[in-house]
Amino acid sequence: MEKLLEQIAQYKEEIVAIEPNGAAELEDYRIKFLGTKGIVKALFSQMKQVSNDQKKEFGAVLNEFKQLAEEKYEAWKSALSGDEALAATAKGEAGFDWTLPGDPLPLGSRHPISLVRNEIVSIFRRLGFSVAEGPEIEDDWHNFTALNLPENHPARDMQDTFYLNQTPDWLLRTHTSNVQVREMQKNKLPIRIVCPGRVYRNETISARAHCFFHQVEGLYIDEQVSFADLKQTLYFFVQELFGRDVKIRFRPSYFPFTEPSAEMDISCLLCEGKGCNVCKQTTWVEILGCGMVHPKVLENCGIDPNKYTGYAFGMGIERITMLKYQINDLRLFSENDVRFLQQFKASF
Ligand code: PHE
Repeated sequence: MEKLLEQIAQYKEEIVAIEPNGAAELEDYRIKFLGTKGIVKALFSQMKQVSNDQKKEFGAVLNEFKQLAEEKYEAWKSALSGDEALAATAKGEAGFDWTLPGDPLPLGSRHPISLVRNEIVSIFRRLGFSVAEGPEIEDDWHNFTALNLPENHPARDMQDTFYLNQTPDWLLRTHTSNVQVREMQKNKLPIRIVCPGRVYRNETISARAHCFFHQVEGLYIDEQVSFADLKQTLYFFVQELFGRDVKIRFRPSYFPFTEPSAEMDISCLLCEGKGCNVCKQTTWVEILGCGMVHPKVLENCGIDPNKYTGYAFGMGIERITMLKYQINDLRLFSENDVRFLQQFKASF
């Protein structure tokens, strides 16, 4: 008994003195002390040598020793998995102050373009529109020809459109109308979609123009869809987005893919009728283009124009975001200056 107790005391010292090290050393430790042929097991098997009246005392010492050996093992293992606190315990250091405040995780904010896109899409979703997406690299037919743009239309010019060098038939889409063409070709009617996405135009970068920007376009095709439906839908849309007091007006316009075509203005939100430099003293600001889908476009996409009619509209997200947040330089959206981006708190 004496000898055994002395040996246990030595082992204890040995365990306390061990500096926790790598995984291989930990395994050696486990085999030596806790393995099936290890020291703890061996000591327990000595139990039968001890006289009956000393068994209780010896058992207590042995259990305490076993506990020490196991705690060392657990702490060492945690230290290896990178837990500072347990590492400190394993090393026998003073310990770790659990009351220290945690490291704050910096939270990002959504990009203003994403916020406004989500808001626009959610308004149309409530009206029963679903979201459709399509490729940014597109062929000439889906971006231009199907939409009734003649061969020599100036929008097709290299000055306006980015073409891919390897395949001149391929280009970066200049609007998300390519998605509308693709949806029409599927020929599942009625169609009621909005198409958000990035578009590209060969423009010199300035405060008012960029070589890429974002659009949401919409398309509704069914039997007996009229211009009145278009007006009412867009009126509801701007009231949801900008508030009940906003007024709208339509001006006749021209797009090859709609007939009749119009541009829609809203009453200037900044000066409320007084005239300012955002509305250029007119008290109106243009926000989108729209019209009734041209019968030729329906035909090109395999839809019978005698049975179906539809309306389409398209707006630039940057423009609407600038109006909503009074931002005066388009370049801010793509410079990724955190001081700019931080100011937008997500509600969408
Ligand atoms: N596709 C047009 C553009 O990019 C916008 C538009 C869409 C106009 C639908 C009318 C109807 O400028």
